[in-house]
Amino acid sequence: MRRVTTSAPGKLMLFGDHSVVYGHPCIVTAIDQRISVVVEKHEEHVFALSAPDVGLVEYKKPKNQLGLHNVPRGVTFLETLYKVFLDRYPQNDGIFVETKSQFSSSFGFGSSSAVTVAFGRALMELYEIPFVELDLFRMCYQAVMEVQGVGSGFDIASAIWGKTIYYVKPAKVVEPLEIESIPLIVGFTGVKADTATIVRMVEELKTRKPDFVQHIFDQIEEITNLARSAISARDWRAVGQLMNQNEELLEELGVSSKELDALIGAAKDLGEAHGAKLSGAGGGDCMISLGEDKQKIEDAIAMKGGEPMNVMANAGGVRVELCE
Ligand code: MEV
Repeated sequence: MRRVTTSAPGKLMLFGDHSVVYGHPCIVTAIDQRISVVVEKHEEHVFALSAPDVGLVEYKKPKNQLGLHNVPRGVTFLETLYKVFLDRYPQNDGIFVETKSQFSSSFGFGSSSAVTVAFGRALMELYEIPFVELDLFRMCYQAVMEVQGVGSGFDIASAIWGKTIYYVKPAKVVEPLEIESIPLIVGFTGVKADTATIVRMVEELKTRKPDFVQHIFDQIEEITNLARSAISARDWRAVGQLMNQNEELLEELGVSSKELDALIGAAKDLGEAHGAKLSGAGGGDCMISLGEDKQKIEDAIAMKGGEPMNVMANAGGVRVELCE
């Protein structure tokens, strides 16, 4: 029996949070914390899953009931992806899936999209379907939209293409930026953000105050475009200043939180960081900062109750690790 192991990276949004949902560009970097997936054909017509990281060990569902009844939270993305996959590439047998994560789903590193992408890639390899990035993106984006109802797909693109990309939804533009590394410092607030709720909050604000929000998004787009050039030129001081400007606009949108403000403030007040901002939806999760003296900035973050995260940016995208 063939076994395929794949892995996909988590991500951090550098620029363009929220505005990317409305068709503006963003810049996202993949990180060296990965989720791996092992798949094997199952002789029964079932979807069987073992995902100990989310407390599931012996989950089993007949193939003709995928997506029906109560689907536990930790299973929804994979079960939906399998359904989308079978609609496109019908198969006679069932599947056994095992997942393993190097990071907690609380950090906002995009565990749902990374595991969905790793599973999709594993299915393509197992059934010898030629791997085309855009095909995998479309399949995963459909599954994530079916589950979540909102989202730009930037996290799926990051998990597939990896590195640092300039992205316009839905993978209309995926442009890798030519750099080797980013001097990124990451601090976890200790608070898990509810992305879908915050995205809907911004949507509601946009309905009430369309001109106000549009003006913010236009400015974020300008900043993102300037950041694309500054990152490619490795001008980290300029990138940091642009981060500060992006952060101010996100604060105007009302998506920051007191925990994020405290950690961002700590990094900036130190005078060592080129800049700092929240990363993702806001409301919690992680903040990011740029600077050469990583240790000093991490200490300042820890002093304010944050948890420095030891992650490297610009990591590789989804890959097949093993075929046995
Ligand atoms: C959430 O990590 C980032 C948002 O821009 C939502 C999205 O792009 O899907 C807020």
